[in-house]
Amino acid sequence: MKIAVLPGDGIGTEIVAEAVKVLKVLDLPLDMETALVGGAAYEAKGHPLPEDTLKLAKAADAILFGAVGDWKFDKLERQFRPEQAILGLRKHLGLFANFRPAICYEQLTHASSLKPELVAGLDILILRELTGDIYFGQPRGRRTATDGHFPGAEEAFDTMRYSRPEIERIAHVAFQAARKRNKHVTSVDKANVLETFQLWKDVVTEVGKEYPDVTLDHMYVDNAAMQLVKQPKFFDVVVTGNMFGDILSDEAAMLTGSIGMLPSASLNAGNQGLYEPSHGSAPDIAGKGVANPLATILSSAMMLRYSLNQPEAADRIEAAVKAVLASGLRTADIWSEGTTKVGTRAMGDAVVAA
Ligand code: NAI
Ligand code: MG
Repeated sequence: MKIAVLPGDGIGTEIVAEAVKVLKVLDLPLDMETALVGGAAYEAKGHPLPEDTLKLAKAADAILFGAVGDWKFDKLERQFRPEQAILGLRKHLGLFANFRPAICYEQLTHASSLKPELVAGLDILILRELTGDIYFGQPRGRRTATDGHFPGAEEAFDTMRYSRPEIERIAHVAFQAARKRNKHVTSVDKANVLETFQLWKDVVTEVGKEYPDVTLDHMYVDNAAMQLVKQPKFFDVVVTGNMFGDILSDEAAMLTGSIGMLPSASLNAGNQGLYEPSHGSAPDIAGKGVANPLATILSSAMMLRYSLNQPEAADRIEAAVKAVLASGLRTADIWSEGTTKVGTRAMGDAVVAA
């Protein structure tokens, strides 16, 4: 089982080191190879996603990714910016299905932005389509308006679009994921206003007929944004497009407390996947040894489950994380009165020991 390890920038290197430590004690034949990505790769090789890094990623069964980016690269031309590495990997590997579980661990209910009773036991999965929608639709650009409210004015435009096969494949992923969970899919759209999401709703409904054991309901995105904070436990699997998913997954993140706890996976049709924490490179705390490595450690558990077919090993990691939280250890982002504050390495060591 080949794993490409791409730590990246900022806290990326610190947190990935802890996940690698955890993977190494599992006693599995994991072949891990590390390469540069993001700003680190740009500085060493002149490109955020160098040829050899891409080659390693393509040949791997799974990619363990830290985070990329730093303020010092903000002035670079777009193609050289660190974020281009993650966009490039998504594109080259066809990673169209983005899984973002939002789980509220019992010991952390107080860290949520919501009342504890609303989030206690919360375990939902946001499934975001990742390679289509208004983020990639052509044409896009700037021009002079010839119609609209201000003809002659400078305007910018993007194109929202989805094809039937694109919707079909993400819908299948959603129903299959729901089968392994609580058999409930909520498809989020804006079919009352957008043509794109009328097609979305039609296709998800059709695909749903192949999964009679799974309950399907539809919700407009504005209502979904409300329901996520009003009654988050209503949801099981939420499937939606790229833009709505971007926003709702960040909203769901706040239900659980810290972004430092949230793993993510991006899969292609062959179950090859990229696994990374939901957060970024956190330059404000980089190099201080205080970052929470649990999101990355939990991402490695998702990697074992989804791409490497090692569900028992994934269970072991998740159980170890729960045990460590139960023992009272906390990194600064999830610390509260009465618990023990530890750094990145000590947290990783505790998961290894558990
Ligand atoms: P961020 O997620 O890096 O940080 C937001 C806040 O959360 C900061 O206060 C940070 O200290 C805290 N935080 C994040 N992860 C943490 C952890 N594991 N433990 C404790 N605290 C944590 O988002 P921000 O500040 O908007 O972006 C920083 C850089 O990261 C930018 O260059 C951005 O482009 C990049 N980024 C990269 C992503 C990726 O590699 N996939 C995703 C999001 C942002
Ligand atoms: Mg986002």
